[in-house]
Amino acid sequence: MTSLTQLPIWQALKQQRQTIEQQSLRDAFARDPGRAERYSVKAAGLMLDYSKNRIDDTTLAALLELARDCELESQRDAMFTGAAINRTENRAVLHTALRASGNTPVMVDGEDVMPEVRATLAKMKGFVEQIHEGQRTGYTGKAFTDVIAIGIGGSFLGPKVATEALRPYAKSLRLHYVANVDGTALSEKLKKVNAETTLVVMSSKSFTTQETLANTQSAREWFLASGASQADVAAHFVAISSNVPAAVEFGIDADNVFPMWDWVGGRYSLWSAIGLPIALAVGFDHFEQLLSGAEAMDRHFREAPLEQNMPVLMGLLSLWYSNFFDSQSQVILSYDHYLRGLPAYIQQLDMESNGKGVALDGTPVDYRTGPVIWGGEGTNGQHAYHQLLHQGTALIPADFILPLQSHNPLGRHHQMLAANCLAQTQALMQGKTLEEAKAELADRNLAPQALEQLARHKVMPGNRPSNTLLMDKLTPATLGALIALYEHRTFVQGAIWQINSFDQWGVELGKVLGNAVLDELEAEQAPLAQDASTNQLITLLRQGKL
Ligand code: F6P
Repeated sequence: MTSLTQLPIWQALKQQRQTIEQQSLRDAFARDPGRAERYSVKAAGLMLDYSKNRIDDTTLAALLELARDCELESQRDAMFTGAAINRTENRAVLHTALRASGNTPVMVDGEDVMPEVRATLAKMKGFVEQIHEGQRTGYTGKAFTDVIAIGIGGSFLGPKVATEALRPYAKSLRLHYVANVDGTALSEKLKKVNAETTLVVMSSKSFTTQETLANTQSAREWFLASGASQADVAAHFVAISSNVPAAVEFGIDADNVFPMWDWVGGRYSLWSAIGLPIALAVGFDHFEQLLSGAEAMDRHFREAPLEQNMPVLMGLLSLWYSNFFDSQSQVILSYDHYLRGLPAYIQQLDMESNGKGVALDGTPVDYRTGPVIWGGEGTNGQHAYHQLLHQGTALIPADFILPLQSHNPLGRHHQMLAANCLAQTQALMQGKTLEEAKAELADRNLAPQALEQLARHKVMPGNRPSNTLLMDKLTPATLGALIALYEHRTFVQGAIWQINSFDQWGVELGKVLGNAVLDELEAEQAPLAQDASTNQLITLLRQGKL
């Protein structure tokens, strides 16, 4: 495998950075009235304005050439057609099959997976409708009012964020998500619900995750302690897993287990039965619309030429800053309260996928891979971390996400929200020069030296890149498209970096050591065999006081 950094186009991009370094975005906009229109693209109900990025036509052409030289298109096609691109686990990567509506077979190991996908969707539909229509009730015959959804990582974030985002479409069931093994998480939720009218949905692809097993076990104990019998568990507990036998052995009724498959990665799984809590929250029709939105983005990713391909452009821009500007983090800013959880979702999606240090052939990479992803809700962040975005020493590319219409058109609120969003992208881009800062202070009657000094604190470098992503309204379809966009953006970068975006070996060591420490914590008197610091901490925990 050729090292990426040895490719002539990589070297050309390094040169390109020197050129771009000399240019200001402010000037680029002043020079070229067509810039915004030229650097914008629409797909699947979304619009991306990427004109406030530090690029020109030469940069873009070079980035696209890099994508071609790295065979991005054939790598993409291999994913869609079920090749085992997750090479360290020898698995296909087919979250796209979960939202494919046509009749095209998708083959894994010589078998079409689509009939099973459709059968599982039909089973979910039937289950959700029975619950919503009150045909399926709790063990005392009362309709369900609450769902406790237990899962962690990819078996938690997608459903939770989608449920939150689609709140305007919510039916009457109340959803409560529990992920952390901290007993407080479950206890606080259980205080709010009544066992007779509560459904527990346990989501674990592997069915081995400590946190999820412990939370489900405790939820079952709570259920039985409420007066229900062992036989009543079947009416109240369902599971989603690719390990159906383990779920049955755990005590979940076989009919209540919804399957998923090893060709769906945890962090790409909300489209599978892992999305059952979403369908319970908003209805199966809306869940289907979520799938169609994602499918529309899949089609775009597969069919649009690279130069107009939204996930490709976003992936390349992100890579441009990571690899050529030494940027170490990127921020996702949701200007929509319903999308406040999205940054955490993208954080897991991207960091678990692209937080890798070796190329597919096992050799260490000599370039930066996945950035730190973080973010939050606008305008809240403007009064917190935006200061660092504007004047800090780090270059942090930002994605601003804004629906044009609000679900809650309250007075002027949406106009204010939108104005803040646009103004932030503008301020990051244009900054403020020393001359402008001085001019602002002109009427303060300051001595020249004091004026100069104060003005320096007010200078904003500008040239801070951002994308703006718009949609008419946050709907199930636009949410589906948005999430699929980020999935594919992550793929694009992983493909160019020649890493495996679909395994997560890095989380394993912590799990193994966690079990060893747990054994020692629980064996109260046994000698300790860890390092001195860990032994000291275990001793304190055994004592329960300092
Ligand atoms: O954090 C590691 C991880 O393996 C994630 O990739 C996954 O989504 C999560 O744990 C939960 O795993 P499972 O669905 O198997 O319980």
